[in-house]
Amino acid sequence: MTTFPSISEMIDLAGKRALVTGGGKGIGAAISKRLVEAGASVTIADIDPDMSEVANELSATFALCDITIPEQLEAAVRLASDESNLDILVNNAGIYPPTGRIAEVSDEFVSKMLDINVRAQFSAAREAANCMSSGGSIINISSIAAIRGGASISAYSASKAAIIGLTQAFANELGPKGIRVNAIAPGIIETEGLVQQKEALKEGGIDVFAAITANPLRLPGEADYIARACLFLTSELADFITGHILVVDGGSTA
Ligand SMILES: NC(=O)c1ccc[n+]([C@@H]2O[C@H](COP(=O)([O-])OP(=O)(O)OC[C@H]3O[C@@H](n4cnc5c(N)ncnc54)[C@H](O)[C@@H]3O)[C@@H](O)[C@H]2O)c1
Repeated sequence: MTTFPSISEMIDLAGKRALVTGGGKGIGAAISKRLVEAGASVTIADIDPDMSEVANELSATFALCDITIPEQLEAAVRLASDESNLDILVNNAGIYPPTGRIAEVSDEFVSKMLDINVRAQFSAAREAANCMSSGGSIINISSIAAIRGGASISAYSASKAAIIGLTQAFANELGPKGIRVNAIAPGIIETEGLVQQKEALKEGGIDVFAAITANPLRLPGEADYIARACLFLTSELADFITGHILVVDGGSTA
């Protein structure tokens, strides 16, 4: 029989290099914080230069990076991997502007949404995988919108559903190399990005503050719940888990 390490050894990320895209705010910041706490060397790649302060506070490295620009993304991966090996990618940066009713959704809007939420996330996973060896772990951030389409979020739902396909295909191809690829589908989480859009979402029939606690557990959706799930998936606790979509939503899709 295999002798397995203790729990504390399995969640110890000391010596691991991690890259978190969009890691300066919201869900990404909560994930960065937990990865640092678990001992990883974290690089935060964010389009917003002000997020370098968050990186400093967390003792993380900062890469000013728009994930849609290949040169910037490649530079962030090089920095995070120290030009050698990357252990963890959290593919989190994404946008969710209210889509509007289907009849009003333009092709330009759909293209922009897919460019950031799908094309750039695909590139990030590919570039990270190129720097990973056995034990590497990729976590893609999808959404419950991928599982349950909502009125007025059609383009977003489509983009996040694509992340499920990406995750499963990458898991199949990279599994034999010992690289695991999983996704988290968060429920409604109170973040700066979400709250900023409360008025626009209201027009689409979504009351953000009501939605945050609209789950069977009656718990407000907080970013740290997603960070905990991410820590589990990146750690050795999840060594036999790949291609999985972990829904973390207080049961709202149950
Ligand atoms: N908040 C929710 O309710 C919720 C639910 C399900 C899924 N998600 C997903 O979780 C992820 C994070 O959401 P959040 O609510 O924390 O968002 P947020 O808007 O609060 O933070 C997003 C971060 O990503 C950065 N960013 C945006 N575009 C970028 C780009 N092109 N390149 C690099 N960085 C970029 C922003 O500067 C910001 O720091 C997104 O992929 C989102 O779709 C969020």
